[in-house]
Amino acid sequence: MEKYTIEIPVQKFRLSELSDEERFWIDTAIISAKQAYAPYSQFYVGAVVVLENGKIVTGNNQENIAYPSGMCAERVALYYAGARYRDVPVKAIIVIAVKDGVVQKNISPCGACRQVLLETEMRSKQPIRVILAGSEEVHIINTAELLLPVSFKSF
Ligand code: THU
Repeated sequence: MEKYTIEIPVQKFRLSELSDEERFWIDTAIISAKQAYAPYSQFYVGAVVVLENGKIVTGNNQENIAYPSGMCAERVALYYAGARYRDVPVKAIIVIAVKDGVVQKNISPCGACRQVLLETEMRSKQPIRVILAGSEEVHIINTAELLLPVSFKSF
């Protein structure tokens, strides 16, 4: 038997260390979060998908009284990007959460969203920067693949 460990590199920034463009994406994600439909959890998540053609697409969580019918912000944005700009690679995704009107600490995508991010990345064969923004810090993972180690593929 052999044992191995999988580690993922994460870069941690203060907001002031980011570029103006990155801060604009985060502000856009906050605006999108505030427009979420989250009457059940009151947890408002915003996502911004940055495309290679320069467009950005926003998404937010959409809940439903039949809970599993709801959808996370990340997938709303990724699926809209896929529907509107079919073969345009995704360069980055920004995710942020707001509760009671206040930006929360960093959150990271759920397993289902990670799977969709991975597939999006595999489709375009280009890395997606995952930008996990929070009230004080921003954590960046340089490729979505790192978020789902030992995923459903041969390795
Ligand atoms: N949610 C997201 O939108 N993205 C995530 O990565 C995790 C959770 C949503 C789902 C639900 O509407 C609310 O946050 C509370 O879990």
